[in-house]
Amino acid sequence: MSLIDEILTLKKERNAVILAHNYQRGEVQDIADYTGDSLGLSKKAVEVDADVIVFCGVDFMGESAAILNPDKTVLLPRPEAGCPMADMITPLELQLFKKEHPDAAVVCYVNSSAAIKAESDVCCTSSNSIQVVNSLEEDEVIFVPDQNLANYTQRFTSKKIYPWHGFCPTHHQITAGDVLEAKAKHPGADVIVHPECRKEVIELADGAFSTDGMLKYARATSKDIIVGTEIGMIHRLKKENPGRNFYPISDFVVCPNMKVNTLETVRDSLRDMKTVIKVPEDIRIKAKRALDRMLEVGR
Ligand code: 13P
Ligand code: SF4
Repeated sequence: MSLIDEILTLKKERNAVILAHNYQRGEVQDIADYTGDSLGLSKKAVEVDADVIVFCGVDFMGESAAILNPDKTVLLPRPEAGCPMADMITPLELQLFKKEHPDAAVVCYVNSSAAIKAESDVCCTSSNSIQVVNSLEEDEVIFVPDQNLANYTQRFTSKKIYPWHGFCPTHHQITAGDVLEAKAKHPGADVIVHPECRKEVIELADGAFSTDGMLKYARATSKDIIVGTEIGMIHRLKKENPGRNFYPISDFVVCPNMKVNTLETVRDSLRDMKTVIKVPEDIRIKAKRALDRMLEVGR
């Protein structure tokens, strides 16, 4: 039996669905039931009628699915796949930051641990951070952990945002020089970047979007596009838009944690029912409040 057939058979036996982030390897995206950005995947995790969710992404994504779905078994094929940005703030650091700004609401980017979500008023993703911040009653907002998404969001709100100093190592390394070089190499192409990029990179781009936002942008134009995000995105863009040109802004924009899943790890996960993601119930309930509040605001 081929590996793909094994996965399909096990999926049926377990009544499972496979959710994959847009940065996963092409072959993993191709066997998934649903591929999307963080918000789309969170929504899908709530909607799907399945006993088991195999989450092909990094740990905070599987954790969010487990927080939202206590009755489903959430499997992360490689639980060691973390998000370095999510680890850039601890609950104690957030508690102290809250003391510095006692009147501020706390917004946490979903790229955060369950314990940070539990300490926050509401979560957001890169596709709804502006709507989430503007939905708050408070005029001051603590925004953790990503400084770049916080600063990007600040451009679209009159509220005062206090950013934490975290960053995504994969996106933060893209420089203005990389954008200018890519533009010179592909004259006439539009440039789209992720809001986890530095301010000067976003300013040189035609737009900043979540990964699903990038797909929407590509559907609305026939132009060539330079893509300033993790390289896995190119697979999805090319698959949806055959014959079109999508150029990575640079070949080094790789998130190693997003690349640890393979067809083998997905098969093993379904076969051995590993690794089940569990969040302690007291933290889960508080973190769920922040996620639910985000899902009410929407995209
Ligand atoms: P999206 O929600 O835009 O898919 O981004 C997730 C992420 O981890 C970006 O680095
Ligand atoms: Fe985290 Fe960056 Fe990887 Fe996204 S690309 S999972 S923010 S390290």
